[in-house]
Formats: sequence, C-alpha cells, structure tokens
Amino acid sequence: MNKRIGILTSGGDCPGLNAIIHAVVKCASQQGWQVYGIPYGTEGFLKLEQGIWQAEDLRLQEYGYNLPGLLQGIDILQFLSGSILGSLSKGNTGDKAIAEKIIQGYQNLQLDALIAVGGDGSIKIIYDLAQQGQWNLIAIPKTIDNDVPFTDRAVGFDTAVDKVTSALYDLTFTAASHDRTMIVQVMGRNAGHLTLQSGIAGGADIILIPELTPQIEPNLLNNNCGHIAQLRQSGRKFALIVIAEGVKNQAGVKEKYIGDYLAQQIDKISHQLCLTNKPKFCDLDQIETRATVLGHMQRSGTPTSYDRLLAASFAKKAIDLIAEENYNQLVVWHNGAIATQPLDKVVPHIKQCHDQGVAPSPVNPKGFLVQTARSLGIYLG
Ligand code: F6P
Repeated sequence: MNKRIGILTSGGDCPGLNAIIHAVVKCASQQGWQVYGIPYGTEGFLKLEQGIWQAEDLRLQEYGYNLPGLLQGIDILQFLSGSILGSLSKGNTGDKAIAEKIIQGYQNLQLDALIAVGGDGSIKIIYDLAQQGQWNLIAIPKTIDNDVPFTDRAVGFDTAVDKVTSALYDLTFTAASHDRTMIVQVMGRNAGHLTLQSGIAGGADIILIPELTPQIEPNLLNNNCGHIAQLRQSGRKFALIVIAEGVKNQAGVKEKYIGDYLAQQIDKISHQLCLTNKPKFCDLDQIETRATVLGHMQRSGTPTSYDRLLAASFAKKAIDLIAEENYNQLVVWHNGAIATQPLDKVVPHIKQCHDQGVAPSPVNPKGFLVQTARSLGIYLG
C-alpha cells in the first residue's frame, strides 16, 4: 500500500543523521512511498499548523545526485554530518496549547507514520505527543552519549569515539614535549561511555566517569596524584586524563568546566603532597596541568562506516516495521543484530532515570570494558 511517512531529527545533532535520512528516503522510495522531512523536530509541525510551510515544501526526493560537472552522481548525503532537516534541543511540548498545535500540524500532513530520530529526551517527548495525537511512531536512537536504553549502540557514538581518540593522540605529543598532565573534558551528559571508550583507545592514564566517580573527592585526588607520581617514576613524564562532563565537583555539583576544576585541584593537592616531604611526590611539585574542553567538535565530522551501516540498518528496519504496521517501536542494535523494543517499555524507563538524574543506559561498572581499562593499568577511581 502506498504510504506517506514523515521523518524528523530531534535533540543535539550528531554524525549519521543525514545517513539515516538518506537511507529512509531510499528504502521508502523502493516501496513507492512518499517521505516528508519535518524541519527542526516537532517545531516543524508548529510551522505547518501556522501555515508557514505547506506539505509539498517538505517532500524529500532522492538526494545526492545534484552536484555539478563530473561530480554529478556522487551520493554525498550519507557522508555529511549535521542534519539537513535541522534539529531542536529545546521545545515547549510541556505546554498543552503548543502540544495541541503540534498535533494539528501533524494531522495537516496526513501521515501514515512518523520516524523520529532522537536521543532519550526526544524519544520521551515525542512518544508523549504520539500518544496524545495517536501517531504511528517508530523511533531511531542517535546520540554521541550512547545512553539510549535497550540498544548497545546509537548512531553518532562511534564517530564521536573516533574524534575524541584522535584528539587524545594529538594531545599526547604536546603533553610529552612539556612533561605535562593533560586533562581532557569529554561530553556524555550523565553517561561515561564516550570517555571510557575513547580513553582506552586513546591511551589515557586516568579515566573519570560518573558511574565510577560520581564526584571528585580528596581520596580520588590523592590517588590521581599517586598514579601520576608512579608514572613519572617509571619514565613517563606526562599524563593524559579524560574526565566525563557528568562527574561532579567536591560539593556534588555539576561544573561547566570540570576539567579545569580538576586541573586546579591536582595542582593544589600535588603541591601539598610534596610538602609532606614524601620523596615520591616531590616530583609532582613541578607538574604542569592543562585542561582542554573538546566541546561540540565531538558532534561533527564524517560519520564512520560503522555509524553509516548502523544508520542504514536502522532505517531499513524502520521501513519494514511501517510496512508491517507494527508501530510504537524503538529500533535497537543488540548482540550484533537489529531488534526492536516497545516504546511503552522504553519510555517509562527513561522517565524513571530522568527523575533520578541518572543516565538511562549507564556504563556497567563491572563490565568488560572497565575490567579491560583496569588491566591496562588505567586508573578509574
Ligand atoms: O546529548 C548530546 C550532548 O552533546 C551532550 O553530550 C552534551 O552534554 C549536550 O548534548 C550539549 O548540548 P548543547 O548542544 O545544547 O550545548
């Protein structure tokens, strides 16, 4: 049956969103369906309701063949980061009047189904709207934080791990040239996946993630300094520390620049340790710390082949589900295969975790990657 489907990207952008859009359009076209791209997440429905856009403005055709000259035919969309549809991190969907307008905008499009590409926050918000508006919803997980529950992987995470790993590689040489302790602040909201995986792959000496180090404490600072002292005695005069943005300060409060905060604390404690006249710590008095915040660099770059494959697989599964009219599902990647999870199980879990201020899918503190890091001699708190 011919179908009209919509797709939107919501929440913070990440590499691989365009690869999902590209694959959705391709798979849907094979079925002879029409695809409508909703600009700026649910905001697009508001604009439809206000008559700023008409349905036909939003029709997505096959992309990527409109380059000039000999480049014509290059199917470029899947390689581009960002989202051609735009994305929205903050919406007013809690406001009843606005929610009603969004639902009206959706109805104006007369869609058979909607594919929402989002992280945990967006999935929760759009699911609630879908319940109110009786939308046929399929959700695809994306986020550099990799904290969407019930999926081993979200689109964008692999590329971000590569980005941070490559930054650690670059920082290694300047750190080594000056015998410095480099502290790198990594994104991830309340989850430490990005910090842990890039820390291991990038050769970090210390990895601090909220699941193992909820906050910086005197004992942790002593141990960090002890670890740096040990490294220096073994001949490695520099050190690389990665810290997830979700780790809190000594008062248990989130800092915008937790890496900078940690650098100041290490400077202070290392000096104090030296004053205790313990010879092994005296070397530390000369250490220099520098903090780097990688920021939104982590959300850019050409998506890796892994993220593009994931994007294509998620898109194909989403189209299959719509063809079967099996709605209200989250498409997931689990144990090396595509699967689905009902949103009426996923969303209550997300809500519960948000209420508790924890990641809906945190790093397993006893998991194999944590064990691997410890076996490599990395200090994790
Ligand atoms: O959820 C993705 C993410 O990049 C987080 O890692 C980070 O805390 C947040 O979004 C940054 O949000 P914004 O782009 O609104 O500054």
